[in-house]
Amino acid sequence: MSCPNLAAGGIACGSTPEGAAEVMRACRAVTDRPLFVKMAPVRVPEIARALEDAGADGLTLINSISGMSIDVNTRQSKLSKPTGGLSGPLCHPIAVRMVWEAARVVNIPICGVGGIMSGEDAAEFILAGATCVSVGMANLVDPAASIRILDELTAWAESQGVADINELVGALEW
Ligand SMILES: Cc1cc2nc3c(=O)[nH]c(=O)nc-3n(C[C@H](O)[C@H](O)[C@H](O)COP(=O)(O)O)c2cc1C
Repeated sequence: MSCPNLAAGGIACGSTPEGAAEVMRACRAVTDRPLFVKMAPVRVPEIARALEDAGADGLTLINSISGMSIDVNTRQSKLSKPTGGLSGPLCHPIAVRMVWEAARVVNIPICGVGGIMSGEDAAEFILAGATCVSVGMANLVDPAASIRILDELTAWAESQGVADINELVGALEW
């Protein structure tokens, strides 16, 4: 309910607490299987709470951020449409902030995604409150990126001197 690249049926229905809850309730009514909702990078605390109340088992934050890129000589979009989803390192700090915002208001697990290129990038999500992470764009740069990132994340967790990585979830100090 958060794709920024669809004219309708994507980000539109997930951009308000009411719309997100309506879709969530409809999905919940037809399955007992675990449902994680991929959230758009908008109104995060409100929509996260609405989704939890409507029966979500977990949240994934964030889907890509709507952006534009224009070829100034042809005056045309460099994309197939005027706008498109921005992924990768540029969206990482925003995604970490949104995971942190959601983790403060819900009790269901959160999957952090957005610009993870290294184990440290993944660790930021965990410290912000994510219990798992997901890697998108880095796989397009290097198909083995996820394996390297997992190795780096494991090394970081070990360096923290904890018995279980769960001890680091939401361990941000501020
Ligand atoms: C080529 C490409 C295709 C994507 N397709 C989907 C999709 O079908 N559904 C979805 O929820 N997110 C999709 N995403 C968004 C990613 O899952 C992710 O939320 C976003 O790109 C931020 O993470 P990243 O920087 O690690 O890619 C896509 C991203 C890219 C780059």
